[in-house]
Order: sequence, then C-alpha cells, then structure tokens
Amino acid sequence: MQAYGPGFARLYNTKWHGFAEQVAPLIETFFAAASMGRENKSILDLCCGTGQLARHFLEKGYRVTGLDLSEHMLHYAIENARSYVESGQANFVRGEASRFVFEERFGLVISSYDALNHLENEQALRSCFECVHAVCDTCFVFDLNTRTGLNRWNRVNIDDSSEDTFVITRGHYDGEGDKAWNTVTGFVRLPNGVYERCDETAFNFVFDLDAVKNTLLELGWKSVHFARIEELNTPISEPENEQRVWIVASK
Ligand SMILES: C[S@@+](CC[C@H](N)C(=O)[O-])C[C@H]1O[C@@H](n2cnc3c(N)ncnc32)[C@H](O)[C@@H]1O
Repeated sequence: MQAYGPGFARLYNTKWHGFAEQVAPLIETFFAAASMGRENKSILDLCCGTGQLARHFLEKGYRVTGLDLSEHMLHYAIENARSYVESGQANFVRGEASRFVFEERFGLVISSYDALNHLENEQALRSCFECVHAVCDTCFVFDLNTRTGLNRWNRVNIDDSSEDTFVITRGHYDGEGDKAWNTVTGFVRLPNGVYERCDETAFNFVFDLDAVKNTLLELGWKSVHFARIEELNTPISEPENEQRVWIVASK
C-alpha cells in the first residue's frame, strides 16, 4: 500500500498535474471515436490522485468516479472538481485499487501516470484487473513504467525550475529486481510564502509485460494491445523497449 501523505499531495497538485492534463484529451479522443464511447459515458479513474484527469472528462460531460488510497490526494481531487462533486457528476472515494466493488458500470476505466506500478506484486495487479473487469462495460486504458523506463530512475535529480517548488529525487534501481525505488524531498511554497518540506519514498513494481497481457486475456478481456499515448489505436510490438507503455484492453 502506497498512499501519498499530505505534504507530498500538495507538492503533487502543484508540480505533477501536467501529465494527467496532457494525456486526458488523447484518451478521450480515442474513446469518443470508438463506437463503444457513445454508449456508457461513465468513467472510473482508478488511483485518481489529485483529479486533473477526472476534471477533463467532467468538463466534457462525462460522469466520473475517482478512487484513490490517499485521503490527501482525494482532498485535492475534490477541491479541483468541487462544482462537479456538488452537482453529483463527480464522486471521489477512498479505496484500494486491488480490492474494490461498485454497483455502477463504467464505459471506460482509466489509470494514469504509472499508478498501477504502485501495486505490491503480480497478484495485486491481477486482483485489480479482476475488480476492473467486474465493473467495466467496454474498455480499460492504463499505463505502466517499463523496466527500460525504470532504469532511468537510477540517479539523483535536482529540480529548481519553478519558484513554487524545489524537488530532489533520488532513484534506485539495480536493473534486475522487481522494485525500483524513488525518494523525493520536496519543498512547496505556501500562500504565506513559507516553504513546506515533505519526504516521500515510493516504489514502482516492474511488471513483465507479456505476463500483464496474458493475465488480462485470461480474465476475459477480448483484445489487449500495447500502444503509445499519441496513438492508442495502434499496437506496438516491442513494448519492453518503451520507457512508458499504455495498455488498451477491450471487452
Ligand atoms: C503517480 S500518482 C498518479 C495519480 C493520477 N492518476 C495522475 O495521473 O496524476 C499514483 C496514485 O496512486 C495512488 N495509489 C497508490 N497505491 C494505490 C492503491 N493500492 N490503491 C489505490 N490508490 C493507490 C496514490 O495515492 C496516488 O494518488
């Protein structure tokens, strides 16, 4: 279980919102173009974090449920989508990605920014896939950091590119094991000008991509392919060579 703490959630909401904002329109275009996208306009945003991806779909008229383990990340998700929460179009719940149930069925389930690499092992990922399969009408789209990508974590990085944040990351991955670790020491400027410090250590589990695909097929998904975010429709044949790969599973 890796639920981000309060200081890290603030830093995340300030610094790392851009990824979800960038991928959300591409996923939406992919889904809307498919005939399945016209049927059920309910989305499940699994490991929704601070809710920027959810907000994009809400603005486009979708109903969105966001699930995350961290109450602190959910605090920002709710803040960022307050009017939609108040109108009932959005709903954010605290939960575990490998153990959840909903009565509602979702047209599309999304999990972005290597959130599923945060699961403990293959068994947890399989349980997550089972939970998704039970609530998903058509399509499941998620990304994973690959072994190739996680090899790049093995370094120290100092990011002072913004006035609002200062971030030191120390990554460790031996290139062979099943977990890559990242320790972040961050400072984020509060409204009163004082910088708040946070420390967070998290791992990414290194999933074997063939095994991921086989597990999805075994659980009943009709088609599964790997893709790049710019072309979610186009299968790629060497996913392990990518740093980050998107998985598209359809019923
Ligand atoms: C890298 S963030 C991604 C957030 C968001 N999807 C985005 O694109 O910005 C990973 C998120 O996964 C959540 N998380 C980690 N392990 C989880 C679990 N087992 N169940 C549910 N959420 C989890 C964390 O709290 C965090 O919000």
